[in-house]
Amino acid sequence: MEHRPVSAETLAAQGLGEADPLSGGLAPVINLSTNYEQQPDGSYRQGRVYTRADNPTSEQAERLLAALEGGGCACALFGSGMAAATAVFQALLPGDHVLVSRVLYWGVRKWLAEFALSWGLDVEFTDTADLAAVSAAIRPGRTRLLWVETPANPMWEITDLAAACQLAHAAGVRVAVDNTVATPVLTRPFEHGADLVVHSATKYLNGHGDVLAGAVLSARRDPFWERIRSWRRNAGAMPGPFEAWLLQRGMRTLFLRVHRASQTALAVAAGLRGHPALTAVLYPGLPEHPGHQIAARQMDGGFGGMLSIRLVGGVGAAQAVLDEVRVFKRATSLGGVESLIEHRRSSEGPSSPVPYDLLRLSIGIEAPADLIADLAAALDAGTKEPVR
Ligand SMILES: Cc1ncc(COP(=O)(O)O)c(C=O)c1O
Repeated sequence: MEHRPVSAETLAAQGLGEADPLSGGLAPVINLSTNYEQQPDGSYRQGRVYTRADNPTSEQAERLLAALEGGGCACALFGSGMAAATAVFQALLPGDHVLVSRVLYWGVRKWLAEFALSWGLDVEFTDTADLAAVSAAIRPGRTRLLWVETPANPMWEITDLAAACQLAHAAGVRVAVDNTVATPVLTRPFEHGADLVVHSATKYLNGHGDVLAGAVLSARRDPFWERIRSWRRNAGAMPGPFEAWLLQRGMRTLFLRVHRASQTALAVAAGLRGHPALTAVLYPGLPEHPGHQIAARQMDGGFGGMLSIRLVGGVGAAQAVLDEVRVFKRATSLGGVESLIEHRRSSEGPSSPVPYDLLRLSIGIEAPADLIADLAAALDAGTKEPVR
């Protein structure tokens, strides 16, 4: 039959449109086998030996995610977003200089602070939203990786991916982008020149708060990519087949969920703007956000479901709002179907640079009016509390 090209949205909805070759079933099967039968001549029928290296259920999820990120990239699933992120750093060599976004997911910063030194990596934090700062920080011949998160947790700063990649590549530096928050629905970093893309698939890709998983994707199947794959195999960082299966199911509704969350987040951010209890609404979809112009260029179809608010009354007011919400759930994490609210500073601990007056919101897919009314009521009640 003639092949008819379809959009990423259709590929996601149909899980690549591949029926199970054995049963013809449209829903994928889970392959739980840990090992594969060896032929008398020592070969393996499909080249798979042991599931720490290869699993058909993971491979199916990898093919789908690779198709969504585009550019003919390669994909490897991991047991968590942190397993994926750290595989990239662990594929570097002792003495390598690494530039990392100053504003980024706390877990990556914490891992780098605890382990990069013993790994021999020379890690430098820089403001990747400031291209002059990135340029000044690159050490030609020594810098091997630029790690960018955009929009970046939890201030939602925006890095210009095309410009950062151009700068880095001119100095021979590889660029890895944590695309967890934008997802390939809104930003495809390979189109902007990225070499590697990393995901916490725990968030939007799965989207239902019931899977821990991660992924690394590479524009090229080069030796660095082989080191990442080898790390996964030898360190045992594969996800379980059931997680890979759930992830495939989650990705079928990715476009719907991300578009809905983005639309609602914009409505929430616009509605909160200028609220007397707030000093700031941090959301790249608002025209006054410093990264708005760049975000409008590199994010396609929305600005994502994440925003933060800063309260006039500081930590006391933040706690009062947390006490008062009813529809928002008080929980960490992001990118699920239900809306979450969190005091990031408390979650991150004493070394956190996040301001005490900040609450992070992950917008889900509930009725927008319920979310807006819940926040309005909580802010109202919260601001009547005495400031602690
Ligand atoms: C942007 C980002 N990257 C990576 C991670 C780590 O992912 P995981 O919790 O799946 O290990 C997270 C988790 O919150 C995240 O928000």
